[in-house]
Amino acid sequence: MILYFTGTGNSRFAAEFIADRTGDKCISLNEILKNKRALEFSSEKPFVIAAPVYASSFPRIVVKLIRRAAFSGSNEVYFIATMGAAPGKCEVELAELAKEKGMEYKGFCGIRLPNNYIVGGNVPDSSEAERIIEEAVPVLESVSDKISAGEHIGKDKIGIGAKLMSHTVNGLFNVVMDKMNCSKKFTVSDDCIACGRCASVCPVNNIIIMDNRPVFREKCVNCLACINSCPMKAINYGGKTADRNRYVCPDYSTWKKLHEEDE
Ligand SMILES: Cc1cc2nc3c(=O)[nH]c(=O)nc-3n(C[C@H](O)[C@H](O)[C@H](O)COP(=O)(O)O)c2cc1C
Ligand code: SF4
Ligand code: SF4
Repeated sequence: MILYFTGTGNSRFAAEFIADRTGDKCISLNEILKNKRALEFSSEKPFVIAAPVYASSFPRIVVKLIRRAAFSGSNEVYFIATMGAAPGKCEVELAELAKEKGMEYKGFCGIRLPNNYIVGGNVPDSSEAERIIEEAVPVLESVSDKISAGEHIGKDKIGIGAKLMSHTVNGLFNVVMDKMNCSKKFTVSDDCIACGRCASVCPVNNIIIMDNRPVFREKCVNCLACINSCPMKAINYGGKTADRNRYVCPDYSTWKKLHEEDE
């Protein structure tokens, strides 16, 4: 069973790719969070959990969710992190999380996909994004085939240096991510057409549409789905993002069809 959390679709793309190639099924943690559904997962196949890298870590919301969830059937777990550049300390954290859950850790793989961190700088335009996705395909194929074969992915052993580094920076990053609330700095321009897309893509229902305008509440998890998904580029962050691109990953089925037609 492939479980994923996503802001702008990269982790869904990776999860759906792996599900397709391994013949497994995909479950959206966004849907579960949005609809407050039970965190009970049962599968005879290994669990594969995919999410983006946030500040060199797996998203805190996903870690909390895994801690609370009940897994039955298979006792094996693989982790996939999609990232703009580097996975930081995800591998160390996730090996520990698997141990804490009493599950067999089958490894971690960081997959480079387009960077969606628009509040920090520009994000790729569509042709650059397409190129980065193409480059990720062999990695996704290799990881899927290893999962199908029941093999370990990533490193067999995590070095003591990586563990020490992870524990040193762990507290600091977590404090930064806990304090950060992107939605406090979002502004909405008159270009807003009240389509409701920002509210529907928000995984934690942090946005409500009132008087034809999105209103941001206090529980933002900084996924940047809203600002990247607005069809009018009406959401901006602290006056910095007006001239930046917006990035949303293509839908996997559509991408696959186009890909097959091209071959
Ligand atoms: C809050 C935040 C922090 C991020 N931090 C990192 C990071 O530390 N390293 C990195 O390589 N990418 C980082 N990124 C980029 C995302 O991990 C990357 O674009 C990811 O594939 C997005 O996945 P999604 O489309 O499933 O949300 C960050 C993105 C966000 C929104
Ligand atoms: S997605 Fe953009 S246009 Fe649609 S309601 Fe939100 S801010 Fe307005
Ligand atoms: S309000 Fe926060 S959590 Fe919701 S979509 Fe926007 S960035 Fe993500």
